[in-house]
Amino acid sequence: PFVVVENCIRCKYTDCVEVCPVDCFHEGPNFLVIDPVECIDCTLCEPECPANAIFPEDDVPAGQEHFIELNAELSKEWPVLATRKDPPEDAAEWDGKPNKLPELKR
Ligand code: SF4
Ligand code: F3S
Repeated sequence: PFVVVENCIRCKYTDCVEVCPVDCFHEGPNFLVIDPVECIDCTLCEPECPANAIFPEDDVPAGQEHFIELNAELSKEWPVLATRKDPPEDAAEWDGKPNKLPELKR
């Protein structure tokens, strides 16, 4: 499956959800995750993310492997999002900031 990684936190552009044929994105307060059970590896979402925050599980950036488990866990708790919505007003300021995991809201 594909995995949403750290740079989505507080960016949450949601362009990704529009292209997913199986609606497997789930939305939290300031982050999205992919349900690894539902994802069919179609690859469509990866180029849609303006924050480059989507990777195949086997190609997650070094040091962000914990996001694989986080996607699996949070996709069970959060509701599906299938329609694009406006990103947070300060999304651009957070794009590319390191160490955003403490910012993650559940
Ligand atoms: Fe959805 Fe395809 Fe992305 Fe998986 S790879 S999350 S099925 S758009
Ligand atoms: Fe997040 Fe990128 Fe989607 S910032 S919400 S993974 S378009």
